[in-house]
Amino acid sequence: MKIAVIGLGFVGLSLTSVLASKGNNVIGIDVDVEKCKKIRSGIAPFFEPNLEKLLRIGLKKQLTITDNFSLVKDCDMIFVAVGTPQKSNGAIELSLIKKAVASIGRVLAKSKNNPIVLIKSTVIPGTMQNVILPILERRSGKKAGREFGLISNPEFLQESSAIRDTEFPHVIVLGGYQTKFMKKAKSFFSRLHPNVSITITNHQTAEMIKYANNSFLATKISFINQLSNICQNIPGANIDDIAKTIGLDPRIGVLFLNAGPGYGGSCLPKDMKALIGFANKIGINPTLLNAVEKTNQKQIQNIVSIMENTLGALAAKRITVLGTAFKPNTDDVRDSIAIELIKKLLKKKAKITVHDPKAIRNTRNIFGGKICYDESITRALNNSHCAIIMTQWKQFGELNNKSIKCMKRKLIIDCRRILANKKLDAEYYALGIGK
Ligand code: UGA
Repeated sequence: MKIAVIGLGFVGLSLTSVLASKGNNVIGIDVDVEKCKKIRSGIAPFFEPNLEKLLRIGLKKQLTITDNFSLVKDCDMIFVAVGTPQKSNGAIELSLIKKAVASIGRVLAKSKNNPIVLIKSTVIPGTMQNVILPILERRSGKKAGREFGLISNPEFLQESSAIRDTEFPHVIVLGGYQTKFMKKAKSFFSRLHPNVSITITNHQTAEMIKYANNSFLATKISFINQLSNICQNIPGANIDDIAKTIGLDPRIGVLFLNAGPGYGGSCLPKDMKALIGFANKIGINPTLLNAVEKTNQKQIQNIVSIMENTLGALAAKRITVLGTAFKPNTDDVRDSIAIELIKKLLKKKAKITVHDPKAIRNTRNIFGGKICYDESITRALNNSHCAIIMTQWKQFGELNNKSIKCMKRKLIIDCRRILANKKLDAEYYALGIGK
């Protein structure tokens, strides 16, 4: 079996590397020639634990990395994992996926192969039926379900555990018509993930499952953040003890109840906006989803208020931002709340120094010379009026009296409560812990 993966971002490159490391004949395709060159030499274009290790194993086996689309012509399965970024109106941008499927269609027109095209990219319900299928049929001159298969196969991997999630997914979703292609796809996934449950459904339901998943996760986060804000005003109340305890109720579950500065990253904020926009468009007022989003947007103001209440005017205050990655174990700063916070603080004329174990380079790409960067946490704290912990890097839990000694004012605002159980000689404010 020959497999193509189109789009070598987090989803595509993780899938490519996992499949190739198991010895499958895989072709990873991306339009970015420089990116392909880098990947071919065994270097991942972004940090993701264990990714390079599997990529290099794959490259020693049967993995090909190329920008040449025509190589999909002998493939039995073609995964499409290109991005669907957000447009300024909140809707998703389909141009990359349209281009990718048009290229597949053109190759199929000249091929005798009957492959299965699986769409991993996140798309609004109806996109498969109304956009992707017509492009593929028109460009290939072939009929979906008869001469090629077309399956929605949403992805649930998280950045920072992308490899583990790709190897051990909690579910496989296959959306499409009940044809021989669906049977073949089911047997492929059953062999790849023997004990994983497979949901077989239609295109629109599969597309909606992805949005249901991410919007529920966002709802859990906004819920706990709202409770965290209430706790902050109850002297002694601790949101972590509350989250841990309610999480033991199997109807609630403990995951995604970590209060913090709000959800960021390239997925939850974008998917929430796209789902809200889609609901409005079809005449449903998504009141709960709107509240989830609003709660998330307001969380940053809560942080700025704590800063202003403790520091007074922020102009000329030296603030050390600890963590700019949108979560630990990644160098990704896309839609990171820390980045948004820095923008707000710069507007208030604060002087910013950042430290992040992995994301300094990507942060520098955004702010250039407007802020300072330091690879050493102690140096980053030197002469600072306030340290704010934004990302839950475990290294930040190792801060001690020695490392904060050099601060001008020993004020710590901990959005992740990493230091809550430490006795530090400092003024300490934590999101979700009542003063
Ligand atoms: C998210 C989903 O978790 C994945 O299942 C999905 O496949 C992916 O989007 C996607 O659509 O591609 P990801 O963006 O990697 O994954 O990040 P998450 O781990 O979900 O974290 C998102 C944000 O929520 C981060 O800013 C994180 O700090 C925040 N978060 C998460 C909390 O504030 N509290 C929590 O308890 C969990």
